[in-house]
Amino acid sequence: MSKTLFVTGGAGFIGSAVVRLLINKTGYTVVNIDKLTYAGNLESLKSVSDNERYIFEHIDICDKEKITQAFNKYNPVGILHLAAESHVDRSIVGPGEFIQTNIVGTFNLLECARAYYDSLENKDSFKFVHVSTDEVFGSLGNTGYFSETTAYDPRSPYSASKASSDMLARAWFHTYNLPVVITNCTNNYGTFHFPEKLIPLVINNAMRQKPLPVYGRGENVRDWLYVDDHARGILLAFEKGKSGENYCIGGHNERTNLEVVQVICKILDELKPRADGKSYSEQITFVTDRAGHDYRYAMDPTKIQSELGWKPEDTFDTGIKKTVQWYLDNQDWVAHVQSGEYQKWVDTNYTNR
Ligand code: NAD
Ligand code: TYD
Repeated sequence: MSKTLFVTGGAGFIGSAVVRLLINKTGYTVVNIDKLTYAGNLESLKSVSDNERYIFEHIDICDKEKITQAFNKYNPVGILHLAAESHVDRSIVGPGEFIQTNIVGTFNLLECARAYYDSLENKDSFKFVHVSTDEVFGSLGNTGYFSETTAYDPRSPYSASKASSDMLARAWFHTYNLPVVITNCTNNYGTFHFPEKLIPLVINNAMRQKPLPVYGRGENVRDWLYVDDHARGILLAFEKGKSGENYCIGGHNERTNLEVVQVICKILDELKPRADGKSYSEQITFVTDRAGHDYRYAMDPTKIQSELGWKPEDTFDTGIKKTVQWYLDNQDWVAHVQSGEYQKWVDTNYTNR
């Protein structure tokens, strides 16, 4: 019989890529546990939702009773935990949800997983993969890289909530022997990315003749990874990762924000030229900087490469072309995910979009 894996946040950007990977490339049965916040969209899973190995459970990870019931019902061999509030700007405007889902929700999952794990006869086959971010390491200057040994130094409400949940996950390994593996990945981009984050926001604003908002002078640096490469890293961490360890994931694709926006404009200029013949870069608008804006993130992925054999398949140049084309081809998805809660939030909190 097929083994069962839980994926929390499977209706989100990265979670849906993980679910598609598990259904299309492995034999696992997947139970997608998701609350369906503004960022969760079952439409992102259309290509796999009819598969007999895919199950959806509409559950808030903070709900102890329902999570316990799910463990007892499905007997999973592991849990890939991605459910989170994930947008830094939202965490600045309203940090409460981040504390609730990212910290309290992770605590609840760890506790439910511990009770379930303690009841297992065969303890060798279970693992809890906690998916985290490079943002827990803080902000770099012009040189250097984050790695597994970098001290935590979170600076935004989002990264502080993720760092807290990482600490809880570590503590549950050391104190209760729960087999936990943590991954810390760089900025992802790709298909089904909610259009509030830089890359999909810029693609969509460009096509709607709206300003392309670049914070400050656009000099901040992020290290970009195509989402499917991250999904493969998470699966490897589950299948081969050592309990109690953390693995840093990144593909050495550092770009300033202005470079990212200019590349998108150039690709759009080729694929869908503006009616007036001008470049989309004319729409670039420098706006007030983000509060406490981390300057640079960059990752040294040597450990996951050498110990688990992980290798990214896409560079930024190949991934960004696919991504822009996907948004051009999937405007229905964009219109749909922006029609409800997200639009209300933007209307209340932003005037420059
Ligand atoms: P996302 O915002 O696109 O999706 C989050 C998903 O979690 C949504 O489907 C949402 O409905 C669900 N969710 C939120 N609160 C929930 C709750 N209380 N109970 C159940 N489900 C809930 O996020 P993403 O960008 O796909 O990120 C996924 C994970 O990866 C997060 O843990 C994030 O911290 C981490 N991460 C993200 C990046 C990135 O660049 N996006 C990089 C590294 C790590
Ligand atoms: P974002 O996609 O929100 O990811 P994160 O904050 O987790 O890195 O932002 C990526 C970078 O782009 C970050 O330095 C902030 C910047 N940014 C803009 O310049 N304009 C925007 O409209 C957004 C959303 C982000």
